[in-house]
Amino acid sequence: MLQKRVLTRRRSFLLGMGAFTVAGGLMHLHNRMQAIGIEQRNFTVMGDTLRDRHTPLRDRAAAKGLLYGATSSHLRLSSDKIFAAHFAQECAILVPEWELKWGTLRPSPDRFNFEPGDWLLKFARQHNMLFRGHTLVWHKNLPQWFTDKVDSRNAEQMLRQHIETVVKHYAGQVHSWDVVNEAVFPQDGRSDGLRQWPWLQFLGPDYIDLAFRTAAEADPKALLVYNDYGLDYDTWKDEAKRGAVLKLLERLKSRGTPIHAFGMQAHLRADETRFNAKKLKAFLRNIAELDLKILITELDVTDKKLPKDINVRDRLVAGMYEDYLSTVLDEPAVIAVLTWGLSDKYTWLAKEKPRKDRAPVRTLPLDARLSRKLAWNAIARAFDRAPKRDVQHRETA
Ligand code: XIL
Repeated sequence: MLQKRVLTRRRSFLLGMGAFTVAGGLMHLHNRMQAIGIEQRNFTVMGDTLRDRHTPLRDRAAAKGLLYGATSSHLRLSSDKIFAAHFAQECAILVPEWELKWGTLRPSPDRFNFEPGDWLLKFARQHNMLFRGHTLVWHKNLPQWFTDKVDSRNAEQMLRQHIETVVKHYAGQVHSWDVVNEAVFPQDGRSDGLRQWPWLQFLGPDYIDLAFRTAAEADPKALLVYNDYGLDYDTWKDEAKRGAVLKLLERLKSRGTPIHAFGMQAHLRADETRFNAKKLKAFLRNIAELDLKILITELDVTDKKLPKDINVRDRLVAGMYEDYLSTVLDEPAVIAVLTWGLSDKYTWLAKEKPRKDRAPVRTLPLDARLSRKLAWNAIARAFDRAPKRDVQHRETA
């Protein structure tokens, strides 16, 4: 009976794949599937009882001294009560998707709008979740007035004032702050690999140190993080970025900048064949040796280039979650895994990486009806298999 079911599953899987390879001609996907044995994986979540098998991600992570959480927004959590209940059930930490970015916080040069962020903090506390700060310094989501108002004369004061005001407002209540986000961009051609953008133009590379020092003074309790993307695969581009990020972290540590952790965004691609566990581990080890903790901060897996068949898509997406997490969780410095959203109902990838066939994307642990899918199993399995860490420092109750 079981054998028959497996065979049927295998047959329909191959059918879904076959239609795709003929139509799309993407043989490399076929290769990835064979290389990782995706057809054979069962993604079964272990547990003695039904209840054990249903244990939410936050508890599975906690059992290993890890934190699991996700991003969401005031808009979603306040209007969708069922989603909010699932969020509270699965997550031990909440990351505001928009509320703490300049675009929301700074409607005008002399105003701070803390309302949506405060609402989220309250929601987090009510549901026994930690709260994360994202993000103080980023080249995107800046308000319209930014280019008119910020110049080389007032840049230092503007940067300090923003960080001081925002970090003090939430002082003592934030688990960790992404102080600087995406400041490395080797394509801009600088020898230090830093991104060319207004803060760098006005203040030079020291703006990064300034941002961390200001944040540390405003909230000595928060874990201060440098966060970046594009570091996950064995490509020349990711390799160059890994090198530049490592150099930046080394520079910061050697001059005594108060930085405590590195945030690896991990926006992954299910069709990507160039996954190299050895290189990824070596990169994380290098960071850990700088005495930095590591957080996986924005994990999701795009299914943009996968066949339409949901069975095939879900397996490949789950396969990428499992490969990635089992690799990074082997590094003891990794203390948290945060997904960029919880359910396919609300994911930035619907707009950012829409599918050509317009089928709804399936990138997160829960589907659009809030049911757990194979991606959830993959994350649960990775937590269950992860080595146990010492309970984290700097937790805010
Ligand atoms: C994204 C949000 O999810 C989108 O809704 C928004 O329009 C753009 O920003 N890296 C980050 C996040 O650090 O802040 C981004 O969030 C996704 C990429």
